[in-house]
Amino acid sequence: MPLVTYVEAGGIPHTVDVAVGENVMRGALNNDLPGIVGECGGGLACATCHCYVDEAWLAKTGGPSSQDETDMLDSTSAEVKPSSRLSCQIVLSAELDGLIVHLPETQY
Ligand code: FES
Repeated sequence: MPLVTYVEAGGIPHTVDVAVGENVMRGALNNDLPGIVGECGGGLACATCHCYVDEAWLAKTGGPSSQDETDMLDSTSAEVKPSSRLSCQIVLSAELDGLIVHLPETQY
C-alpha cells in the first residue's frame, strides 16, 4: 500500500499506509491522525480536509480535481496557497507512494 506522510502544522510527521483507491482524507481518519476533520465524509461540502501538498509532489497530484473543489477551497479557515487541496479529492494510486501533505493550523 502507498505510504503517505501527514505533517502536522507544528512539524510532527505521521507516516501511514493508505490503500490504493482510498483518498488522503480517509487515510488520516482511518489512522486517527490529528489535523484533518473530514466532516462531510468526502462530499465536497465542508472544506475541513484542507491540506497543502508538499512541493515535491505537486506535479503528481496536480491541482484541484474539479471546479467544485476550487470553489470549496474558498471556504477553508486556514490560508489558501497554490499547493492547497481538499484531501478527500486526492485518491491514492501506486504512483503516489511516498506522498507528503502538510496540514493547516486549523480546519475551522
Ligand atoms: S471531507 Fe468535506 S470537503 Fe473533503
